[in-house]
Amino acid sequence: MNGQAGHCAIYPGSFDPFTKGHLDVVERAAQIFDQVIVAVVVNPQKRDPLFSLDEREQMIRDAVAHLPNVTVDHFGGLLADFVRERDATVIVKGLRVVSDFESEMSTALMNRSLSKVDTVFLPSDPRWSFVSSTLVKEVFNLGGDIADFVPPAVLRVMSAKRSTPRPAKR
Ligand code: PNS
Repeated sequence: MNGQAGHCAIYPGSFDPFTKGHLDVVERAAQIFDQVIVAVVVNPQKRDPLFSLDEREQMIRDAVAHLPNVTVDHFGGLLADFVRERDATVIVKGLRVVSDFESEMSTALMNRSLSKVDTVFLPSDPRWSFVSSTLVKEVFNLGGDIADFVPPAVLRVMSAKRSTPRPAKR
């Protein structure tokens, strides 16, 4: 129990980039649990990250600066090992759409089997249920306005990184 009374929650993810949907989950988790650690995975499995680990961590730190019981850290390897290392009592995941549930369910059961720690799912606020990091990057790379979908701290870093779209293949 992290040497202190109360629940320490780990909110893991790639956060490439951290969206307003992620921020909403962190804000709600911070009201439920005593401590929340946003845990940035070092090497996201799905693809090469657009943002370096340092960039992702710093953007999140800026975005959650108003939440005194939230810290930001990173992990490589198994989430279950990080959970044990930090003596966390719960893993938090956001669910945007019903189809998220299928893979999240088996992941939660595997993590519980490995670490004895349960996963709590928070349903996404409907305002953000269509907002994924992948879609935000696509809109951004094609020159669209993403200001509604990412916290201001993330928008600043992304604007500085804006690249020209690649010509479409024929
Ligand atoms: O934001 P994402 O990409 O959905 O986050 C996925 C993440 C980082 C939570 C997941 O890939 C993960 O936990 N990776 C660590 C490796 C691990 O523990 N794998 C076994 C999970 S059962």
